[in-house]
Amino acid sequence: MKPNLLAGLAALTVMTYLGQAASSAVEEPAYPEGYRRWTHVLSGVSNANFNRYEGLHNIYANSKAVEGYKSSGAFPDGSVIVFDLFEVVDKGGATVATRRKFIDVMVKDSKRYAATGGWGYTEFLGESRTERAFAQDKAPGCHGCHEAKAGRDAVLTRFKD
Ligand code: HEC
Repeated sequence: MKPNLLAGLAALTVMTYLGQAASSAVEEPAYPEGYRRWTHVLSGVSNANFNRYEGLHNIYANSKAVEGYKSSGAFPDGSVIVFDLFEVVDKGGATVATRRKFIDVMVKDSKRYAATGGWGYTEFLGESRTERAFAQDKAPGCHGCHEAKAGRDAVLTRFKD
């Protein structure tokens, strides 16, 4: 009787542990299908001081995120913002975008990403729609900077008509 009881308890402990592990895994933000047809927010150029962010970036917002940019408050759930970064070369005085380095994505889901201010953060490398630079457990690194620097709902850029 005793050994059975112990085995039962051990099994229960393992199941509880697995249950916790499964429920704490946060779903990754999806690849932002079609974002190149979304609303262009702005573009910027960063030099080598910005390390891996050196290059030309274009920022796009889906329609929900445009609502967020135009409101004075928070971005609604379903907002998606994409930071699309390219390498640049100088061609006879013209700065020309060449290879896509990566895209950084923010997806608003106030329940799923409650731990990072309601924003899921991810990065897709180069032209890949599946290869990510990191898992959700690294998202607090993105959010820490956004939260500290941004005035409104962790979004740093402003929309100008
Ligand atoms: C050191 C600070 C810092 C970190 C860390 C950081 N960002 Fe940003 N992010 C910025 C700044 C500054 C901008 C605005 C760029 C501009 O004005 O053109 C920005 C803009 C963005 C935007 C466009 C929306 C907005 O907030 O304006 C997205 C999307 C984005 N970052 C995603 C990410 C992701 C994903 C990560 C983690 C891999 C990340 N960021 C890490 C500083 C940071």
